[in-house]
Amino acid sequence: MPAGVVTASYIVASILFILSLGGLSHQESARRGNVYGIIGMAIAIIATISSDRVSGLGLIIAMMAIGATVGFIVAARVQMTAMPQLVAMLHSFVGLAAVLVGFANYVDPGVQYEGAEETIHEVEIYLGVFIGAITFTGSVIAFGKLQAVIKSAPLILPARHWLNLAGLLVCVWLGAEFLDAESTGGGLIPLIIMTLIAFAFGVHMVMAIGGADMPVVISMLNSYSGWAAAATGFMLSNDLLIVTGALVGSSGAILSYIMCRAMNRRFLAVIMGGFGTEGGTAAAAAGDTGEVTAVSAEETAELLQGAKEVIIVPGYGMAVAHAQHAVSELTQKLRSAGVKVRYGIHPVAGRMPGHMNVLLAEAKVPYDIVLEMDEINEDFPNTDVAMVIGANDIVNPSAQEDPNSPIAGMPVLEVWKAGTAIVLKRSMATGYAGVDNPLFYRENTRMLFGDAKDSIEAVVKALD
Ligand code: TAP
Repeated sequence: MPAGVVTASYIVASILFILSLGGLSHQESARRGNVYGIIGMAIAIIATISSDRVSGLGLIIAMMAIGATVGFIVAARVQMTAMPQLVAMLHSFVGLAAVLVGFANYVDPGVQYEGAEETIHEVEIYLGVFIGAITFTGSVIAFGKLQAVIKSAPLILPARHWLNLAGLLVCVWLGAEFLDAESTGGGLIPLIIMTLIAFAFGVHMVMAIGGADMPVVISMLNSYSGWAAAATGFMLSNDLLIVTGALVGSSGAILSYIMCRAMNRRFLAVIMGGFGTEGGTAAAAAGDTGEVTAVSAEETAELLQGAKEVIIVPGYGMAVAHAQHAVSELTQKLRSAGVKVRYGIHPVAGRMPGHMNVLLAEAKVPYDIVLEMDEINEDFPNTDVAMVIGANDIVNPSAQEDPNSPIAGMPVLEVWKAGTAIVLKRSMATGYAGVDNPLFYRENTRMLFGDAKDSIEAVVKALD
């Protein structure tokens, strides 16, 4: 394929990627956004492998076939709740690819660079390998933590910030040695040592971050993987890779910022680590025990029937129970009985950004009744029933009321302000942050214990 056609294809692919990102920002257009992304990526791959600069097409196609088959099987099998782990694993591949391309490009640059150009090229390689190595090991550790292969509690080494600083300074010094190296390939030793330090840095950085901050870490690593890809694009003089990397890098950074805000965490504090407990199911904390009022499915149905306005707040438990279809059926029933039903979605409900929206869309809940936390939070005082389905941290009043709570300051859905709050969960266990929830002991709270899907189905039956 002539270079001009390749460039034109890259421009078309870049535009499609931008349209894809735009589409993904709204539920109604998310499907279309995905299609744009798929077409853009197909154009990018075809243009790249058929360009004059690429040889060994047979081997490339064979490797792509193997990769695509593995990817297809993994993506088809993965549970929705295990998606963050998969994303972490995929980020690690981008990081590793950046490291490998960096080394290959250094050892065999293909083009002979001179003077300033050579220096710029070497800086690209050094930065690309550095970011790629951190992304690789950081993502592997994030995968391990999310998969519960590694303990999610933060690992706090003594003087860890000094260790990081020392590592960084050594990397800067090694960078100078690398650029000073006389012959091509002469800087291999500093490059290898820096890579090892960056590997260790990635491990240390994510090990120090507790389970509760993992969502931010995933989107931060997403951002890093984008910058690693952009650096690879500079190394290979591939404009599309630079544009795509920059898009991924900046959108990952924006998402990290949005999530930090949703969890009331400062980005720097997350990176510094140390926050977050086991993603566990500890028993109720001392001092917060009291009477809880349990209700049956029939009583819940009565409360819902008597309500004019209902807000449903889904959380991680709805995903675990696969209750979204039952919830959708309940919604239809109530709406046809004249009850106004809406959904309140917390930005970090579940275990990945947009988790609840995906499930509700799958169950065909109309988009216009699914509202963001900020859009609906003020309406709870005028709501008769708030129905909390498998959510915990995102409806915890101690985030507002107890300055010593580990989740103090995190914005939450104020379900306790509704006439009655009905909480569906299996036990008194805590949620992801491992913090007890005083909501369960409130006077206007009713607990409907059991698996969320079974409970909702029983409520639907009782409504008949
Ligand atoms: P959580 O606070 O984790 O609470 C989920 C609740 O669901 C648990 O208390 C559990 O109680 C209940 N549950 C589990 N399985 C159930 C089932 N089969 N039927 C009924 N209930 C069930 O979830 P949340 O309120 O959605 O909050 C999300 C948390 O995850 C936040 O802390 C957030 O920071 C964190 N996080 C978010 C993300 C993103 S990006 N969304 C990613 C990682 C972590 P029982 O065991 O008693 O049933």
